[in-house]
Amino acid sequence: MNLTRSAILAATIICIVVGHVNCQAKNETSSAKPESPKEKTNVKQSKLCKKCICDFKNSLLDCSEKLQEWLSTEEWEVLTNGNFVFKTINLEHNNLTSISILPKYDVENLYLANNQIDSIAVGAFQNLTELTVLDLSHNRLTSKVLIPDVFKGPYSVNDFEPLGKLKTLNLGYNDLHSLDADLFEHIRYLEELVLCKNSFHLIDQLSETAISGLLSLKTLDVSYMEIEDLPGTILHGPRDLDTLIAAGNLFKHLPKALERATNLTSLVLNENPIESLVGDNVFPPLTKLNHLSMTFMTKLYKIGPGAFSELQSLTELILSDNKFLNEIDEEALSKNVTGGQYLDYPPLEKVYLNNCNMTTLPKPLLVRWDKLKALDLRFNPWTCDASNDYLINVLIDHVNKTTQVLAKNVQCASPDRLKGVEVLRVANEHLVESSSGSLIWVGLLVVLLIAVPTILGAYVMKRRGCFGVFRRHDSVAVRALYNRTSFNEDFHI
Ligand SMILES: *[C@@H]1O[C@H](CO)[C@@H](O)[C@H](O)[C@H]1NC(C)=O
Ligand SMILES: *[C@@H]1O[C@H](CO)[C@@H](O)[C@H](O)[C@H]1NC(C)=O
Ligand SMILES: *[C@@H]1O[C@H](CO)[C@@H](O)[C@H](O)[C@H]1NC(C)=O
Ligand SMILES: *[C@@H]1O[C@H](CO)[C@@H](O)[C@H](O)[C@H]1NC(C)=O
Ligand SMILES: *[C@@H]1O[C@H](CO)[C@@H](O)[C@H](O)[C@H]1NC(C)=O
Ligand SMILES: *[C@@H]1O[C@H](CO)[C@@H](O)[C@H](O)[C@H]1NC(C)=O
Ligand SMILES: *[C@@H]1O[C@H](CO)[C@@H](O)[C@H](O)[C@H]1NC(C)=O
Repeated sequence: MNLTRSAILAATIICIVVGHVNCQAKNETSSAKPESPKEKTNVKQSKLCKKCICDFKNSLLDCSEKLQEWLSTEEWEVLTNGNFVFKTINLEHNNLTSISILPKYDVENLYLANNQIDSIAVGAFQNLTELTVLDLSHNRLTSKVLIPDVFKGPYSVNDFEPLGKLKTLNLGYNDLHSLDADLFEHIRYLEELVLCKNSFHLIDQLSETAISGLLSLKTLDVSYMEIEDLPGTILHGPRDLDTLIAAGNLFKHLPKALERATNLTSLVLNENPIESLVGDNVFPPLTKLNHLSMTFMTKLYKIGPGAFSELQSLTELILSDNKFLNEIDEEALSKNVTGGQYLDYPPLEKVYLNNCNMTTLPKPLLVRWDKLKALDLRFNPWTCDASNDYLINVLIDHVNKTTQVLAKNVQCASPDRLKGVEVLRVANEHLVESSSGSLIWVGLLVVLLIAVPTILGAYVMKRRGCFGVFRRHDSVAVRALYNRTSFNEDFHI
């Protein structure tokens, strides 16, 4: 009897010590009175909701541009003791300079972009155990400040637990030059990492170790980091990496590290000074890649044989705005199978070649041109003579039938008598003799009768990271937030 009594007493004491966390007073005895539950604060009527925007429908607390400094203790109490838990808190554009240890709160998305944060307390996020998305972009973080323990998780008896739910970390637009090799030790389940617009110049060994240790990584944005290459083993760890964005760097050649990225489905290499894709500098086998973007390449003039041959899943090829691109070899896309007797072609649906320096389009580049839902050939100096017969007498009509808007501004630049004339008009009025006769017309007619005209969607690709990494998250709150914020300003197609 004595034993039970003291056991109950001990339980009660523990309850009081631990607080109400997970603690259920034994109900067998009336002597152990349970703590009366604290009155919850009505969040809706709080001052905080007058200062910030409380969007209950989207579970969003939007304090962007509303704060002079961090939320006060009282304001945090409204939240931690409130009758509503916001899943998303936006504290962007507030001139905040530091982050101290934040109170316990079940926020999932925390946006701290566009402040002037240059210091973060050790374990700043340890009480935010539900944290999934953390945006620290557009701040003043340096490599010195960003130490592994900044991301320390909750304390448990044995050790610090990882911040296991953190999936997305945006460190873009800061002053980082390298990463601590153990930077991600507490957040090792990251799936999306954005490092863009930090001038690394070189991804050193420590940074490489940090990144290649992220075994769950799916999206990596290393754009505008002023790097000339990716280290060879950087992608050895993240075996599931499906999206790599490496725009605006100083790559002169395709990074060799791509050879290991065999699970890639989307690759963005815009704005790199690659001159040509010939010889050894062609894509390695990336059998799952379906989206490739290489736009605004300031030096690209030639895409040679076999350049894309090992990308046999490509559905979307974006090569627009390559001012010097003049030549795409007719064997650029095809892949020799069984010793050259048969050729494989990727199942392309969208090809963008607008604003380049293309003069002719070789028909054998692709067998099933008719499968294209979008073919953008506008603003190129097309040659309108027999050398471009296929474009003039077959393709342009297909383009007009599928996406009429893309048939405009496909104009001849030569010969002089046709300069500035729409290629579609040249076709319609037979201004250039067709050399291959009417067979093509019959074939085309069949094709067109079968083909279902498709409307061209907005010329917008999937954009991540510097391109808006958070857009992918389906939560309404996130979308609501990012419709309003300036994250989009960073887009660089
Ligand atoms: C405690 O027990 C009584 C009866 O045994 C029951 O009616 C009551 O709901 C219990 N309270 C709690 C908090 O479990
Ligand atoms: C942040 O500082 C800038 C410049 O001092 C000022 O214009 C702006 O209003 C400040 N923002 C907030 C939310 O106080
Ligand atoms: C946050 O975590 C720290 C360190 O574990 C702890 O001392 C503090 O009480 C926590 N704050 C809240 C409000 O839970
Ligand atoms: C690609 O992803 C699959 C499935 O996650 C995995 O089993 C495989 O090892 C990955 N391949 C490579 C080369 O990393
Ligand atoms: C475009 O290509 C033509 C050759 O077809 C070349 O003479 C011209 O210099 C190129 N223009 C640019 C801007 O590269
Ligand atoms: C395919 O094989 C043929 C014949 O062997 C060869 O002429 C051609 O260059 C090859 N094409 C590619 C893209 O390798
Ligand atoms: C282009 O397509 C539209 C709609 O399908 C059609 O009305 C028009 O006549 C076509 N233009 C030419 C020049 O063929």
